[in-house]
Amino acid sequence: MISSNTLEQILMKSCSSVYVFDIKTLQSRVAWLRSLLPEDVSLCFAVKANPFLTKEASFLVERLELCSPGEADIFRHLALPSEKSVISGVYKTPDDIRALVREPSFRGIITIESIRQYQILTRQLETEKKITPVLLRLTNGSQFGLDETHIDEIIRHRSLHPYLQIRGIQFFSGTQKTSLKKYTREIAYLDRFLTHLKEDLRFEAKELEYGPGFPVSYFEEEPSQEELLLQHVSELLNGMKNKSRLVLELGRSIAASCGRYYTHIVDLKRNNGQNYALVDGGMHQMVYFGQSMAMKRPRFSVFGKEGASVDQLWTVCGSLCSMNDVLLKQTPMPKLEIGDILCFENTGAYCMTEGISLFLSRDLPFVYLKREDESLQCIRPSIETQLFNYPH
Ligand SMILES: Cc1ncc(COP(=O)(O)O)c(C=O)c1O
Repeated sequence: MISSNTLEQILMKSCSSVYVFDIKTLQSRVAWLRSLLPEDVSLCFAVKANPFLTKEASFLVERLELCSPGEADIFRHLALPSEKSVISGVYKTPDDIRALVREPSFRGIITIESIRQYQILTRQLETEKKITPVLLRLTNGSQFGLDETHIDEIIRHRSLHPYLQIRGIQFFSGTQKTSLKKYTREIAYLDRFLTHLKEDLRFEAKELEYGPGFPVSYFEEEPSQEELLLQHVSELLNGMKNKSRLVLELGRSIAASCGRYYTHIVDLKRNNGQNYALVDGGMHQMVYFGQSMAMKRPRFSVFGKEGASVDQLWTVCGSLCSMNDVLLKQTPMPKLEIGDILCFENTGAYCMTEGISLFLSRDLPFVYLKREDESLQCIRPSIETQLFNYPH
């Protein structure tokens, strides 16, 4: 529902915290990433980073990565074209795989992340006689994906499975990666592995879907080196010998900057000489990667008091019964009052889903999209969670 109210009116009226995802910021972020990345790179949005942006992101990128039946359901619900999807995930049940293969309109790519997934999928494809493109997920040494030996084995036996159209390799090694050395090693490794497939197994990968885990700078004391890092990574990607289609699978780097989280101050107190402000939200609704007990200070402002003099120290705590629920520690701020609203930046990726949102049966925040014309659209009301926490 598009609201005719201003953000201020919405925040004043809302009885719980609010996320706002700004579509113009999302658009310019994707354009900015494209301007730094090699021209022929395609982008894949990892929906897990922010499922609320699935539709808007689908207009901006070539592909969407869906990592669970729940995410696939969100995609279907939005009636997006299945050829834009890649169905990945460490855990795919035989029923999930069967349902995908049987769905007549499904034209997406499926990742194979274990020998068991490979066996189930090939059996199902043979039953349905349906040609389906797949990516073999190469492990980074963790529980995810297949190791090189297993990938070699699958590729060696490819002629036995004519319905399995192996398009190439998927690889993801972690999020929030800042080390250029690590990118250098990783990209060289991928290039070597693709060369090995070509030269030793006569298999030319048509594509590499690579999740580079580009970092986002969340905290005041962390200056962003992002542009320089992306330029260097682009040079490394440009230098790859195996230059088939390259798809970069990104979540955080696409979505983080478009999100803001607003939470209301609901109580103020002074305990043993320290000022505390209590908010209606908390760490169950706002998770910053690398944050613990407010050891670092995220970028934030006090809504409507941006120019006010900052002459008091406040510790801001959330509404959970946990001493860990601290959002800001001893932070210089203007004079605070009950009803003031804190705005936290860069909350467009993972922040809203990675928290312990069922703890204490507190309500989930409202979610708004800020459209290109600046209008605000409520795409999810605040939801009570006690329903999940009693016997049904
Ligand atoms: C397979 C895969 N691809 C892509 C991503 C997105 O990573 P990021 O948000 O760091 O870009 C993830 C995140 O966990 C992932 O597991």
